[in-house]
Amino acid sequence: HRHLTGIEGLQPHEITFLLDEAEGWIAANRGRATPDKRLAGLTQINAFFENSTRTLLSFEIAGKRLGADVVNMHAAQSSVKKGETLIDTAMTLNAMRADVIVIRHMSSGAVRLIADKVDCPVLNAGDGRHEHPTQALLDALTIRRRRGTIHNQRVVICGDLLHSRVARSNILALTALAAEVRVCAPSTLMPPAIERMGVTPFTDFDNALDGADVVMMLRLQTERMTGGYVPSSREYHLRYGLTLDRLARAKPDALVMHPGPMNRGVEIDSNVADHDRSAITEQVEMGVAVRMACLDVLTRRARGVEGWA
Ligand code: CP
Repeated sequence: HRHLTGIEGLQPHEITFLLDEAEGWIAANRGRATPDKRLAGLTQINAFFENSTRTLLSFEIAGKRLGADVVNMHAAQSSVKKGETLIDTAMTLNAMRADVIVIRHMSSGAVRLIADKVDCPVLNAGDGRHEHPTQALLDALTIRRRRGTIHNQRVVICGDLLHSRVARSNILALTALAAEVRVCAPSTLMPPAIERMGVTPFTDFDNALDGADVVMMLRLQTERMTGGYVPSSREYHLRYGLTLDRLARAKPDALVMHPGPMNRGVEIDSNVADHDRSAITEQVEMGVAVRMACLDVLTRRARGVEGWA
């Protein structure tokens, strides 16, 4: 089976193909005039070992809109709490003959491990600091719709890059689609040698913002800062918070994005988050369309439909 464990390994035309497929579901979701239940009879298991609002709900809604039987496994209420290993959990889900499994896990690489053990397509809903591919796809779709193109767009990604799977997947997708990507973080939260990913690193947010087409803000992932330096919210906001004053350094029509969950007043001010240049709620809407596209495309072979391009 073909899985979606990350953006890494996808060709630019495959990313564009998924975005084009997602585009087709936006109108359907808005009007919902002619329900398309192409996943009817398939069982989708969402196995979430880490908290989620957007990703879990949008995968559930996406599956249900396509007619799949969707079941959610929350690790907090599962036998993981009784010491069951990840592999044994995966084999249990497999024995129930799932047709597609969506996994979120706190360990980088956990999704790949499960994908290698089960007999159906697996979609990564975020694994540790590694990847969050559907987030990158929904962000790319939002940029393409709002800016008209991704090519040559100056995208500034600012925040806790060290712990961010969202940043990693976005860097991979946006550089593959020929955006100019700038990353900005305090040096303590900047991954080593990040320029090898084809991005320009900044520690000064004001400089990074100059002429930006898109400003993507990330929260501080304090839950992953075990033993490391944790900046104070006030200090962080002073140097790296997106305020209206700072936004004025970007292009006048620059787009503001945030994958959520937001910490208002820390990495982003409320008047920026709620600004008409903010695409934050549109990102959530695109999330459903993107996940419908991914569920459809990845189950095509099992449904006897030609696989993806
Ligand atoms: N953006 C994102 O992954 O949000 P959740 O953690 O709420 O799913």
